[in-house]
Amino acid sequence: MKIAIFAGDGIGPEVTGEAVRVLNALDLPGLTLFEGDVGAAAYRRHGHPLPAETLTMAREADAVLFGAVGDPSCDDLPREHRPEQAVLGLRSELGLFANLRPATMFKGLENASALRPEIAREIDLLIIRELNGDVYFGEKGTHTLDDGQREGWDRMAYTTSEVRRIAHVAFRAAQGRSKRLTSVDKANVLETSQLWRDVVVEVAEEYPDVALEHLYVDNAAMQMVREPGQFDTIVTGNLFGDILSDQASMCVGSIGLLPSASLGERETAHGTFGLYEPIHGSAPDIAGHGKANPLAAILSAAMMLRHSFKQEENAVRIERAVEQALADGARGFDLGGSAGTRELADAVLSRL
Ligand code: IPM
Ligand code: MG
Repeated sequence: MKIAIFAGDGIGPEVTGEAVRVLNALDLPGLTLFEGDVGAAAYRRHGHPLPAETLTMAREADAVLFGAVGDPSCDDLPREHRPEQAVLGLRSELGLFANLRPATMFKGLENASALRPEIAREIDLLIIRELNGDVYFGEKGTHTLDDGQREGWDRMAYTTSEVRRIAHVAFRAAQGRSKRLTSVDKANVLETSQLWRDVVVEVAEEYPDVALEHLYVDNAAMQMVREPGQFDTIVTGNLFGDILSDQASMCVGSIGLLPSASLGERETAHGTFGLYEPIHGSAPDIAGHGKANPLAAILSAAMMLRHSFKQEENAVRIERAVEQALADGARGFDLGGSAGTRELADAVLSRL
């Protein structure tokens, strides 16, 4: 079991370190961990946020455990040298087009949600975000117009095959849940979205057991705070999925709680190759203070065991330990408590 650990910037190393501690506690036979540089840390050391040796390391691994990238001191660098390019580069170079972002209410956290507890209690959804296309990877640029103004532009596009493959992932995921799929787009305004919707409707014919509905993204954002319990599986493009998953995290209680899996088509000897990361960023404001919530990172490690190593039992063990720690009252600073990074991980470890 070869796992590449890319901890990255800000709170990345702190939270990833705790996830590694949890993995080690499971005593998995044949577990080999190796570390690589990504993000601002990699830029400082190698002159690039995603050095060639890091990419090679990822290709040779069965899975990647990723922390976070982003550093305000890099905001003025040309885009190709900014820390974010590390994770964007890994997603595209490794063909990780399907991003699974589950958001489920934890027992005891109903009062921590930004929503009223009786509304928050019902949250049990899975956002499937397309990760290799959309305005994220379209041509982009800035230029100066004849009148002297600067103009910035980013091309938004999806091809039929890109939408089709993510739609299949989403329908299959919905089949394993409560067989309801919501496709989120902006087809009333965008051609990209009209094509998205047409293809999703076409793919739906192969899944007659799944009830499909379509929502415009503005309506979806509104419905997610009005009645999140109505959602089961959501499938959407790269940009809308980025936004809606941050929103879903605060409906659950904190962005420090949501893990993610990024999967492609590559199968290893153990399972599906994937990259696993919290949905949160590098949080430079609290980095180095031992205050970050490691639960999203720990839950990402659980997703890794499930998808890349077919170890459902160990994945569930970690998830149960996290649930139990929260049910017993473990609260980090993000949830109004005072448990630090290490202490929260200890609470999980003692229940593992
Ligand atoms: C995420 C992050 C990334 C994204 C950033 C760091 C490039 O916000 O994984 O949600 O926009 O995809
Ligand atoms: Mg995001």
